[in-house]
Amino acid sequence: MINTQTKLCLIIGNPIKHSLSPIMHNTAYKKLGIDNQFVFLAQKVKPANLRSAVQAVKILDIRGLTCTIPHKAAVIPLLDQLDPLAQKIGAVNTVVNRQGKLVGYNTDCFGAITALEKVVNLEHKKVAVLGAGGAARAVVFGLVSKNAKVTVFNRNLNKVKTLAKQANCQSQPLTNLKLIKNMDIVINTTSVGMNSNQSLVSKNLIQSHHLVFDIVYSPHQTQLLKNALEKKAKIIHGLDMLLYQGTAQFELYTNRKAPIKTMHQTLIKYLKMKVT
Ligand code: ATR
Repeated sequence: MINTQTKLCLIIGNPIKHSLSPIMHNTAYKKLGIDNQFVFLAQKVKPANLRSAVQAVKILDIRGLTCTIPHKAAVIPLLDQLDPLAQKIGAVNTVVNRQGKLVGYNTDCFGAITALEKVVNLEHKKVAVLGAGGAARAVVFGLVSKNAKVTVFNRNLNKVKTLAKQANCQSQPLTNLKLIKNMDIVINTTSVGMNSNQSLVSKNLIQSHHLVFDIVYSPHQTQLLKNALEKKAKIIHGLDMLLYQGTAQFELYTNRKAPIKTMHQTLIKYLKMKVT
């Protein structure tokens, strides 16, 4: 039963209707029998109101603030402390309220690397990362920390050169995607393919030795992943990253071990999918 001691966790973004975080976290609270201690809600917050929203976290003693598009970078100057990895990445998706002090973390990096390491040893692997935005930064810094050989491909050249310099990896324009043929892993971090049947990678570039990871989770089987399966490549779904960033976040907010299986089943159920 929710009572006066129940702590609130909140996800903010704009838009926010599509978010699966409340369902994933609330189901996990229930599974551990702590749904009287925590409740997780979502609220649309426009960029102009971000500062007030962050102030409200302190005033209302909100336990955890999850930030999604477009707040992951903008929230940083409003926090009291930053985890070094989040600082390097330049994006925060998880804010923990520690006795009135707001500490920012990035669990997207852990989510992506955990999803990859379930199926591959990243050391010395040649990895193509498509995109150079916030999500790409989390993936790239994670890969470099595992000694992967990373090449980032992006439409905007200035952005990709800046990222490559900061992360000490290679950069290429998106028009040079033919280079992925000799690489081991291909990761799409752009939004291309989200609720559409588009893919930045044409089917003829995908090789059977590739491991293809699309961080887009809706639809579950994106066009890129469908093409990869047709070419007999191995695939990783965006849902895996969504799950592991969520379990890391759950543990930061509750100090309890996340019930991964329950959270996974919840995501599958609400994306109206069968486990594949
Ligand atoms: P996120 O935080 O989700 O990564 P973002 O910071 O806006 O979002 O970054 C989106 C990334 O997807 C960018 O790398 C963007 O390329 P540009 O830097 O050239 O804008 C990439 N992207 C989005 N739509 C794209 C498209 N239609 N074609 C190619 N790249 C696209």
